[in-house]
Amino acid sequence: MQEIRTQLSEDLTAATTSQDVEAVRVRYLGRKGEITLLRKNADFSAMSAEEKKRFGQQFNELKRFAEQQVAAAQARQTGTAPAPPSIDMTLPGLNNHLGHLHPISLVQLELEEIFQSLGFMILDGYHVETDFYNFESLNIPRDHPARDMQDTYWLKNGLLLRTHTSANQVRALEHYGAPVRAVFPGRCFRNEAIDPSHENTFYQLEGLMVDREISVANLIAVMRTVLTAVFHREVTVRLRPGYFPFVEPGFELDIQCLICAGEGCSTCKKSGWIELLPCGLVHPRVLEFGQVDPDRYSGFAFGLGLTRLAMMKYNIPDIRLLNSGDLRFCEQFPAAV
Ligand code: DAH
Repeated sequence: MQEIRTQLSEDLTAATTSQDVEAVRVRYLGRKGEITLLRKNADFSAMSAEEKKRFGQQFNELKRFAEQQVAAAQARQTGTAPAPPSIDMTLPGLNNHLGHLHPISLVQLELEEIFQSLGFMILDGYHVETDFYNFESLNIPRDHPARDMQDTYWLKNGLLLRTHTSANQVRALEHYGAPVRAVFPGRCFRNEAIDPSHENTFYQLEGLMVDREISVANLIAVMRTVLTAVFHREVTVRLRPGYFPFVEPGFELDIQCLICAGEGCSTCKKSGWIELLPCGLVHPRVLEFGQVDPDRYSGFAFGLGLTRLAMMKYNIPDIRLLNSGDLRFCEQFPAAV
């Protein structure tokens, strides 16, 4: 009986016209149908009273089931099926899935929390900037070769898409004066040919601290504190000289490779160190552009590549995944709460 029940359901599912349904009805419930014959052929004389009773019950149940299913299938074919239940739009949805935070947002939020705990403000800037804030005020005049390092998207009106979050430095100095402690996370743009490690749209987190007697020691202390919190373990840092027109001295800050602890492996290309971020002491000319007296104040600045950090932290092999909008990528990161 169970087999007949299953077979009937399958046959009805496969039926696409009302003639098909009728054929199914005849096959099971007709005078010589399988269900009808089940009773005709039953050998009641070989059954006990108890067995007869059970057979009767099961047979009746099967027959009722078959009749109902056939009637419903017939109704579906002839369009007389009952209307689906009406929808109550005020009920909460069944799927209250909120989506996932993008890995760059995750890294950004984590850094913001760390910097806030150190007394830094989180500030926003403009994606469309002036030549003055993006270059001139950072000690990169119009004919300076350092402009060649940042292939800029210029707009027809003379403005540009900011090439780095450093564009916020002088804006913040003008607005808040000294002392000031701030970080500026955000999107930057450069005319790059796109490949697994280059994008025309990427994220940085700029930092600026200006106060009395700020030195390289303060820079190293803050960087070590922040990086230890980001990587959840003690990190060893080193500074190498690096050139950027808006800092003097300027550095490349490296961290000791976290994979091999400085032994040398494929991740650190056998050097034991990983280049992490450029930084330095704010150039006196930048302070002057921001109306801050360089004889009274000094400061440090750094430019952390958020995109690069997210790729390192989550082992993301191709930068193009980040702006792909592909949910299969985003859904691998913790859900929004
Ligand atoms: N703005 C630079 C860039 O995008 C990075 C940078 C270097 C930022 C040194 C800084 C710094 O604040 O001190 O290439």
